[in-house]
Amino acid sequence: MDRTFCIAPMMRRTDRHFRYLCGLLSKETILFTEMIHANAINRCDPERFLNNSNISNATVLQVGGSCPEELKKATLIANSYNYSEINLNLGCPSSKVQSGNFGAVLMKDVNLVKNCLSEMIKVSSKEVSVKIRLGVDDSNINEGLDYFIEELSQIGVNTFYVHARIALLKGLDPKENRTIPPLNYERVFKIKKDFKRLNIIVNGGIEDFKIAKDEFQKLDGIMVGRAAYDLPFKLLDVDRIFFNSTEGNKTMLSVIDEMFEYIDSLNFKDEIKTKFHMLNLFKGLNNAKKSRLLLLSSEKNDKIKCELKNILLASENQAA
Ligand SMILES: Cc1cc2nc3c(=O)[nH]c(=O)nc-3n(C[C@H](O)[C@H](O)[C@H](O)COP(=O)(O)O)c2cc1C
Repeated sequence: MDRTFCIAPMMRRTDRHFRYLCGLLSKETILFTEMIHANAINRCDPERFLNNSNISNATVLQVGGSCPEELKKATLIANSYNYSEINLNLGCPSSKVQSGNFGAVLMKDVNLVKNCLSEMIKVSSKEVSVKIRLGVDDSNINEGLDYFIEELSQIGVNTFYVHARIALLKGLDPKENRTIPPLNYERVFKIKKDFKRLNIIVNGGIEDFKIAKDEFQKLDGIMVGRAAYDLPFKLLDVDRIFFNSTEGNKTMLSVIDEMFEYIDSLNFKDEIKTKFHMLNLFKGLNNAKKSRLLLLSSEKNDKIKCELKNILLASENQAA
């Protein structure tokens, strides 16, 4: 799997509808689900959480949990869905997640992490990867992190998505934990230098894709979170920038047509969610506010689509 450009897992954002939109904007981007707790997959209707049938991009299922048996069971269920990889979340610092003893807090217990991953690897028909931080609280981000990575690689984990900062579990909420402390890309470069055989994908603070292509060329890929959600139209450039691809020459106009075709196939609840994910598509254009109001309105979809396309055409004419 070519992990050159990945969109980070984001709760309440990277659901299957946002992934569908991303897939229209870039064919080569690797998509991630939101984190789904193993128990949600095991106990409830798995189809509700795992349905990825409309997505043709390679997609990584991210799971959360710390019980090896539960993770094994969830992995077995996930085998029959069209995911390319299954990823264990070892980076989420939220207090809710901490109290469930999963996410970033697990980086403090390498043996438990190994037990979890071993069970997943044993039954998974796809590669099992991890998303980590550089450390947690006052953990040693030098030898300590190297030891953690070495131990995981010994049991067959070959791919590490690294959010390039430590997680501070006390006193900061998850939002603050995405800006504090400062990013440490140098440490990620060092991981790649010391573990050449492993796939190392850097995450955190990447906004300009062209700059990132050059800056991180020694790594195996970049993972973008907020910049992809907040400015999704930028994804239209990904296949050209990273893969020299001009195939298809997608335009925003054709994306709007395809999104409304997709919306017509959805029930009302999913239609609302999908339109919500489209709110940022017009950011920065004249009439961006009008486009948002249209997407939130109860107008007929044909009318919304037509007016959105007029907004795009008007801004293209103005730019010409
Ligand atoms: C709204 C939101 C939800 C997130 N949910 C998850 C998640 O479910 N799993 C995960 O590993 N990281 C999650 N993250 C962290 C992102 O995957 C990423 O590591 C972080 O935003 C830093 O990357 P960025 O600077 O490109 O946004 C979330 C981030 C945001 C903004």
